[in-house]
Amino acid sequence: MSKILLLNGSAHVHGCTATALEEMIGIFEAEGFETELIQVGNKAIRGCIGCGSCSSTGKCVFNDDLVNEVAPKFESADGLVVGSPVYYGSPNGTIISFMDRLFYSTSFDKHMKVGAAVVSCRRGGNTASFDVLNKYFTISGMPVASSTYWNMVHGFSAEDVKKDLEGLQTMRNLARNMSFMIKAFADKKSEYPIVEKASFTSFTDGK
Ligand SMILES: Cc1cc2nc3c(=O)[nH]c(=O)nc-3n(C[C@H](O)[C@H](O)[C@H](O)COP(=O)(O)O)c2cc1C
Repeated sequence: MSKILLLNGSAHVHGCTATALEEMIGIFEAEGFETELIQVGNKAIRGCIGCGSCSSTGKCVFNDDLVNEVAPKFESADGLVVGSPVYYGSPNGTIISFMDRLFYSTSFDKHMKVGAAVVSCRRGGNTASFDVLNKYFTISGMPVASSTYWNMVHGFSAEDVKKDLEGLQTMRNLARNMSFMIKAFADKKSEYPIVEKASFTSFTDGK
């Protein structure tokens, strides 16, 4: 069965971001997907230090938290949804630390896994945060699912988000579009476009 992994960057397991992700899970399950929601924001996740150790070991040098545990789940998943609350106009620090390390430390093929970013804010900074999260997908050959509005909900509490009817509708439409993309890509696996990787511009001549 195809699997979709969802990450909650908030420490609030039943907060606003979780409410948005749960709205998506309802659709994914109705569409026949297996889902797993991983709570990231309530863990102590340190940032990437750029040590490069992962390039030889294939895993993050810090083995003390969630990144190396989630990596194989991401490898076997067909889709990844990352949700974050907005903190000072950005995704929160925990999810950024997690995503930097998850994407940098894993060399498995992410091409054609479908990605979606979801953000929750009380009032502002949502589109900037949305853009940051989408960048992990678009540097990795991951097609990005979209919806009937940018993927966001508004609120300070889960109760607020439940009143954001357009936000929840956006989540349901997003989940339907993502489900469709994953199923369509699965049917065309043998026809995936080739990926060139020979060039890596590094300006070693110093010019
Ligand atoms: C440190 C911090 C910074 C925040 N910064 C913003 C912000 O820039 N814009 C905004 O609209 N809400 C901001 N908020 C509010 C949260 O983004 C908002 O309530 C969110 O929906 C909470 O989601 P959660 O329940 O999943 O944690 C901030 C909250 C905290 C704790």
